[in-house]
Amino acid sequence: MAEDTKFLLLFLLLNSSALCFSTEHDVQCLKSVQKSVIDPSGVLKSSWNFRNNTDGYICRFTGVVCWHPDENRVLSLQLSNLGLEGPFPQGLQNCTSMSGLDLSSNNFSGSIPSSIAHQIPYVTSLNLSYNNFSSEIPESMANLAYLNMVNLQHNQLGGQIPEHFSMLGRLTSFNVADNLLSGHIPTFAQDFSPLNFAGNRDLCGAPLDECPRSRRWMLVPIKLRRINEESSIGAAVGFVLGFVVAFYFHLYCCERLLPYVFRT
Ligand SMILES: *[C@@H]1O[C@H](CO)[C@@H](O)[C@H](O)[C@H]1NC(C)=O
Ligand SMILES: *[C@@H]1O[C@H](CO)[C@@H](O)[C@H](O)[C@H]1NC(C)=O
Ligand SMILES: *[C@@H]1O[C@H](CO)[C@@H](O)[C@H](O)[C@H]1NC(C)=O
Ligand SMILES: *[C@@H]1O[C@H](CO)[C@@H](O)[C@H](O)[C@H]1NC(C)=O
Ligand SMILES: *[C@@H]1O[C@H](CO)[C@@H](O)[C@H](O)[C@H]1NC(C)=O
Repeated sequence: MAEDTKFLLLFLLLNSSALCFSTEHDVQCLKSVQKSVIDPSGVLKSSWNFRNNTDGYICRFTGVVCWHPDENRVLSLQLSNLGLEGPFPQGLQNCTSMSGLDLSSNNFSGSIPSSIAHQIPYVTSLNLSYNNFSSEIPESMANLAYLNMVNLQHNQLGGQIPEHFSMLGRLTSFNVADNLLSGHIPTFAQDFSPLNFAGNRDLCGAPLDECPRSRRWMLVPIKLRRINEESSIGAAVGFVLGFVVAFYFHLYCCERLLPYVFRT
């Protein structure tokens, strides 16, 4: 009995100190966001007032959604369409319980930081659409394992969609339309509409058109053209296909057989 009580007290103590710790961090997080964001219309400046330090006071700030209205613990930041500018907000890693981030329809610019997976590791919903983010989509975003929804539509993002995005098994919604992306679209567990990839520079692969046969085979079309006879093109294609199949079969067999070769 005494042991149980001690255990309970210890548990409550640890729990409450963890709570204070975490909520202090969330306040720090919002202060840092306010400081790093350019806010020409002054929305955050007027609404995010850190002087009235009561329980859950940050939960009444514009765009801040808390887990509980009386507890300074941020569930999500909904900062859509507030005329905000500047780089990706800083200090988000101190909002340790955050599951949603919506910065859409602002004028944020610069790159999406490659540290994003450390900053917001538990987000399920990420909406950066209709901004001015540039550079490449960081590979590390593939480590945001809880993502359900990603919207990067209408930015200036270039390069490829990281191949490892195929690891994001929980994605039910994904949109990168209207950017400057090119290259192969990773294979997703879910089927997405071609519209979610439209308006880019040169994306290919499902759900868009097939990619031109791998760039490694660039020489093949040149040879094909030299043959220059309609009827032999079929045969040539057959030959090339046969070659590709044989090549992969060879690789596959080697991989399969090598251990045996080494064993004997
Ligand atoms: C602090 O905020 C609470 C709730 O919004 C309000 O009732 C109270 O008057 C405020 N206190 C001060 C000193 O502004
Ligand atoms: C997180 O908050 C702590 C104080 O709670 C502060 O010292 C630290 O600089 C913050 N980290 C970031 C990245 O803002
Ligand atoms: C993301 O932001 C855009 C632009 O503000 C909005 O149209 C869209 O509904 C938002 N949510 C999702 C799930 O994409
Ligand atoms: C967006 O910000 C850039 C500079 O960061 C500025 O030149 C441009 O006018 C802004 N656009 C809008 C629509 O506010
Ligand atoms: C996007 O940012 C570039 C500079 O990086 C700026 O020249 C351009 O005006 C911005 N576009 C919009 C729509 O704000």
